[in-house]
Amino acid sequence: MSTADYIEKLRVTFPLREPVLREIIQLLHFPPAGRGLDVGCGIGQPAVLLAEHLDPGAVITGVDISDDILVRARDLAKGHTLAGRVEFRQGSMDRLPFDENVFDWAWSVDCAGYSPHSRNKATQEMTRVVKPGGRIAMVAWSSQQFLAGHPRLEARLNATTAGFAPFHHGDDPKRHFLQTAGRLRDGGIRDVTVRTFAGDVSGPASHEIRKAMAAFFRMRWGSARAEVLDSDWRLFCRLSDPDSDEFLPDRQDYYGFFTYTVFTGIVNDYTNDN
Ligand SMILES: C[S@@+](CC[C@H](N)C(=O)[O-])C[C@H]1O[C@@H](n2cnc3c(N)ncnc32)[C@H](O)[C@@H]1O
Repeated sequence: MSTADYIEKLRVTFPLREPVLREIIQLLHFPPAGRGLDVGCGIGQPAVLLAEHLDPGAVITGVDISDDILVRARDLAKGHTLAGRVEFRQGSMDRLPFDENVFDWAWSVDCAGYSPHSRNKATQEMTRVVKPGGRIAMVAWSSQQFLAGHPRLEARLNATTAGFAPFHHGDDPKRHFLQTAGRLRDGGIRDVTVRTFAGDVSGPASHEIRKAMAAFFRMRWGSARAEVLDSDWRLFCRLSDPDSDEFLPDRQDYYGFFTYTVFTGIVNDYTNDN
């Protein structure tokens, strides 16, 4: 997928995620006027939500590996007149471009929690740059039931490589996102808790949710073709194509939901001396 397509996907699917991310932000109780870090910030939508929720004194720094994506993030923040409250910097979660103990909190949405090969490093890095006593949160999309009336098709799609990505077949089960609590504790985070939140879609979906769902269908299962029966693939195409009469979110009685799981805890006082 090109960067432009990826940016478009982030933009179009956000209305689906926004209500549940707002709910999660309320739960996390980040210090209202502190300095926070958003790891793998994408085009800045979650950082803007955070800035809107926190006090005007709060400053949020978004870090992303992609300069092109950050161009869009800066534009978005400008459009929200949040100048000075949201800033963006290029960098990798494996080696965050900050000194120790500079942030009051850090979170990562659909990034650090997912990346199977750099999760430990990302946790260590977030722990390093957050002050002792500060909060860390790993937030990620964890499941969905979106093909109402077609449970076998959905189960088969979910059993494909695309369906259970970003986890990979053969990975150490401990690397699965839902095993993040152990990784946080091992990394010097105390008071670790986990909760799952649900977002949902009722039919007939609005124009913007139709677009979000069409993009989501392509993103989640669009590369599953080689791993399912032709008949399953044809059915999936009809149910997920917004130009088809069978597009599921257009049905009056459609209902689907997805979950976001949040692992959070507090940086131990001794962590940075280890
Ligand atoms: C699925 S997007 C999520 C973006 C944003 N957090 C959101 O929820 O809208 C994942 C983001 O992580 C970024 N990313 C991937 N690897 C990274 C790394 N090693 N360090 C920092 N950012 C990374 C990508 O460029 C992309 O913008």
